[in-house]
Amino acid sequence: MSETQTIRVGLGDRSYNIDIGHGLLSTLGKRLAPFTNRRHVAIVTDGNVAKHHLASVEESLTAAGITHASVIVDPGESSKSYAGLATVCDGLLAAGVERNDLVLALGGGVIGDLAGFAAAVLRRGVRFVQVPTTLLAQVDSSVGGKTGINSPHGKNLVGAFHQPQYVLIDLSLLETLPQRERRAGYAEVAKYGLLGDAGFFNWLEEHAGDVIAVKPGSVDHAVATSCQMKAKIVAEDETETGVRALLNLGHTFGHALEAATGYSGKLLHGEAVAIGMVQAFRFSAKLGLCDPSLGSRVAKHLKAVGLPTHMRDISFNWPNAGELLRFMRQDKKASGGKLTFILVKGIGEAFIAKDVSDQHVLDFLNEDFART
Ligand code: NAD
Ligand code: GLY
Repeated sequence: MSETQTIRVGLGDRSYNIDIGHGLLSTLGKRLAPFTNRRHVAIVTDGNVAKHHLASVEESLTAAGITHASVIVDPGESSKSYAGLATVCDGLLAAGVERNDLVLALGGGVIGDLAGFAAAVLRRGVRFVQVPTTLLAQVDSSVGGKTGINSPHGKNLVGAFHQPQYVLIDLSLLETLPQRERRAGYAEVAKYGLLGDAGFFNWLEEHAGDVIAVKPGSVDHAVATSCQMKAKIVAEDETETGVRALLNLGHTFGHALEAATGYSGKLLHGEAVAIGMVQAFRFSAKLGLCDPSLGSRVAKHLKAVGLPTHMRDISFNWPNAGELLRFMRQDKKASGGKLTFILVKGIGEAFIAKDVSDQHVLDFLNEDFART
């Protein structure tokens, strides 16, 4: 087993640790024991993750004298729904979960968001821990306490801030993750460099292949650097009244693209973010905020790892610019009818831009559609 790195998310009496390393799952039971009141844990996971990793989790819990029950939902975004929430809440209640019990979210961002939200509302709030199994969840969704489900009106519109008690990141779990999912998660890794750490982005330009191949050393550095940045931002602004919005680089465009494709397998969240980040750089250049060559540099890097970087890379009949703008308005980042964008002055120099004019967005999207 390689060295374990620990990152602290500093939130006063709700602070918690993130442990990162290879092969940590076998130690999960021992690590969770201090968080359990009656040595009982309720696991929420999905069918894919259960197939690969549930037995190891159960073994580790049993070895530590912790009893367990499981709720297994269908894999995919469709479980992050009212129906999925009912399945998880009722499954946890049927499994006898009490107010002081611990829920364990074992899976990607869908499971973390869903199980975390179920934990936030079940019996008016039970504690939970995150064991993220996708790259996206390890670098982003398992940290920071955003939980929730989607509504027919849009993504993540029903939710709560509910911080986990602990996050265990076993990098070895990524070995069973399909390549396409690894690449999609990589977009969120690149996001950290692009929003606030040019040196990290330079490093990624050299090492992205090793990160996606889960190479020890490289993947550790990428995940720990990402979690460190996220922990710092969350500690500063837990409920996104300010600086936390920077984590949405590429997301206003990206969420509109996801919504347009109906959250289908056509476009994964990380793929939408990859296209959205390139758009954010190009839009910033169009507004005269950054060097126009940066959009191409970002696109070149993301393309090299196999990510889409433009709407035309996805075979889909995209709606027109006005329709995409309408999807953007549904985004949580719209406030008082005005859109908020995360724009850039350079690599690692993102900032929050409120009051971006609709006409500028429409002009940019029309130009972007025409880009060859
Ligand atoms: P996901 O949870 O759907 O996982 C992707 C796929 O990989 C699923 O089919 C899953 O079953 C499978 N899988 C997961 N781990 C595996 C493993 N180790 N081996 C084999 N298969 C595995 O998707 P995701 O990309 O992890 O998360 C996307 C979700 O995260 C979106 O709903 C997004 O809104 C949310 N998100 C939340 C936050 C937050 O701060 N809460 C941040 C970013 C994204
Ligand atoms: N993924 C954005 C956030 O956690 O704020």
